[in-house]
Amino acid sequence: MTTGEIAPSSQGEDLPESLKGTLPGRYYTDPAIFRAEQAAIFETQWFCAVLAADLDKPGRFETVQVGRESVLVARGRDGAVNAYLNVCRHRGARLCTEESGEVRRAFQCPYHAWTYSLDGKLVSAPNLTSMPDVDRARFGLHRVHVREWLGYVWVCLADEPPSFEETVIGDVTTRLGTPDAIVGYQVADLKLGRRIEYDVKANWKQIVENFMECYHCATIHPELTEVLPEFADGLAAQYFVGHGAEFGRDVEGFTVDGSAGLERIPGVNEEQDRRYYAITVRPTVFINLVPDHVIFHRMFPLTADRTLVRCDWLYLPEVVDSGADIDRSVELFHRVNQQDFDACERCQLAMDSRSYRDGGVLVPSEHHIGEFHDWVRAHTG
Ligand code: FES
Ligand code: FE
Repeated sequence: MTTGEIAPSSQGEDLPESLKGTLPGRYYTDPAIFRAEQAAIFETQWFCAVLAADLDKPGRFETVQVGRESVLVARGRDGAVNAYLNVCRHRGARLCTEESGEVRRAFQCPYHAWTYSLDGKLVSAPNLTSMPDVDRARFGLHRVHVREWLGYVWVCLADEPPSFEETVIGDVTTRLGTPDAIVGYQVADLKLGRRIEYDVKANWKQIVENFMECYHCATIHPELTEVLPEFADGLAAQYFVGHGAEFGRDVEGFTVDGSAGLERIPGVNEEQDRRYYAITVRPTVFINLVPDHVIFHRMFPLTADRTLVRCDWLYLPEVVDSGADIDRSVELFHRVNQQDFDACERCQLAMDSRSYRDGGVLVPSEHHIGEFHDWVRAHTG
């Protein structure tokens, strides 16, 4: 073979049984594939949008990108959270351009001042009385399905949403063995201690795949493998730690230097104590459970090669309110995040290469990532 020639692909068909192929590189770069994923995954599945406590009073709102749509999530006067497509029904102006904010009573479109109540009804418009055909009941904001779980607002843009129990809670159950295993962490009652946003120059699937395996842990996560020695052998897969990865013998807490953590969440049982659990909730959520806090990642895929990740560190309210020092506990997973996202960006750079045209390989401890690829393919056709 002369220099520069590309060897015929040996991926897929003729791989030995212990190896599996990955998705081809174009799945991470092709805008058409990304659009298909937006339509067939993010706009059809339950999507974790907002921390409910961030909407702490009526009129508080956030706008989030869900697939191709901007979604306006707002707390109503009755205390319930509602979600709407963020589009004025008159001529289609973006109703709210801010990422978050507060309105007193209603959302007013900045273009011709059509005004919508917090529960999405069209309540007024200039000259409305002289336009009897503008039926207020008909031109309310388009509603989006909403569920609250674990203290987060999940939205679904599908007309007929899939079962929340089967698709969202089902992922947690698969990983932890029982949906009850997460109950003791009282996630919905915890309070935000710190939030860090990561603007990752990588396709969202890179981030999911990375989170699903721990083959990389020994190489890129020195602090994490100190705390969780079973991650150091390069074989452990986070996916398989539904039983929980045990803290090292001399480790006192899930902190950057293994020093003591904060007050333990009372519902955490003996078996869960001194253990770390990691859960992937398809398509865009990762949850880590440790005895004194919960780390909750929400992803917002923006383009084929850019994903925003919002990571919340949640603690007992009394821990946050006391002003306790959470820096060492935040620092551990902040470093893990930076290490992981650097790796994702490093892979993203090569997705357009001829070398990766037919994809790469999954070694045995990564085989379950193939199930994720099958899931993506099943949705996008
Ligand atoms: Fe919103 Fe006209 S586009 S009021
Ligand atoms: Fe990692």
